[in-house]
Amino acid sequence: MQQKIAALRAALEADRAKVADKAALSAFWQKYLSKNGEVAGLMKGLRDVAKEERPAAGKIINECKAWAEAQYQELAAAVEQAELAARNAAEAVDITLPGTPRPTGTLHPLTLIKNQIVDVFAGMGFEVFEGPEIEDDDHCFTRLNVPKNHPARDMQDTFYVAEDIVLRTHTSPGQIRVMDRGQLPIKVLVPGRVFRSDSDATHSPMFHQMEGLVVDKGITLCDLQGMLDKFVQALFGPEVKTRLRPSYFPFTEPSVEVDVSCFECGGKGCPLCKGTGWIEILGGGIVHQQVLKNCGIDPGVYSGLAFGIGIERIAMLKYGINNIGLLFENDLRFLQQFQG
Ligand code: DAH
Repeated sequence: MQQKIAALRAALEADRAKVADKAALSAFWQKYLSKNGEVAGLMKGLRDVAKEERPAAGKIINECKAWAEAQYQELAAAVEQAELAARNAAEAVDITLPGTPRPTGTLHPLTLIKNQIVDVFAGMGFEVFEGPEIEDDDHCFTRLNVPKNHPARDMQDTFYVAEDIVLRTHTSPGQIRVMDRGQLPIKVLVPGRVFRSDSDATHSPMFHQMEGLVVDKGITLCDLQGMLDKFVQALFGPEVKTRLRPSYFPFTEPSVEVDVSCFECGGKGCPLCKGTGWIEILGGGIVHQQVLKNCGIDPGVYSGLAFGIGIERIAMLKYGINNIGLLFENDLRFLQQFQG
């Protein structure tokens, strides 16, 4: 028995050196420790041992069994360790490598300007209202006091979609739609796309406007100028001033053209303001009584102010852009200048 055990120990140690993975480990267990393995075989061999020697032989077999099991446990732990180390090595990530930069987008300059304008007027209590881009003649012209065949229709080169249906030439029809809601007082901004058959360095067939409308009791031109002062100061700097010049729009009476003191030269005169110290930025006025009546509002009780801002014009002035086309070409070299 002593010899058998010695032989088994030698064989087990030789096999043990060859176990490198789970499959070999399992074969090792099968060979020595399973029910039909070598250690169990020793136990069965006890039958052939003389009765009086059995207890001693049983003892050394049990010792051998415990030793073999311990060998197996050690081996299993070593195989586990080796496999873990191999997996860690394969999955290693070098956290010192530089990251892959992702290109980030940026707001379009027209969106930046639009947001700034909305912010200023929202601070004065204005809400935003949006009307349709395809309008009927009634909202776009007639109810804004521009009847059919009125010479003022020549002021806007209109795209007709059908008889009496147009691409809106301005955001002013938004005024009619808001007043038709029948809720007073009114304080709204109407931003949006407008369309005119016109194209050169400063005109595009599609561009953007921001309409403003206030209807309440006792509204005057002073309210208009006060609000516009806040607006130009927020966009062009705290020291700029506005100036109102008499003008003509069919939907306002009186009508004004609003100039801003030149933010480039401070009013002394430079190429941007063509030496005048003033830059024209928008049109506005007191809502024509006929327009109020067209919307069922009594001009004896209520009065209104309105203005229309060209968003491209403001963006071009503010950022020094000399060709309106740049705003629509979407050349990244141009757009990336407005990042951050
Ligand atoms: N709708 C005019 C245009 O597109 C701009 C305008 C002028 C709007 C005076 C107004 C206003 O509300 O009062 O040329």
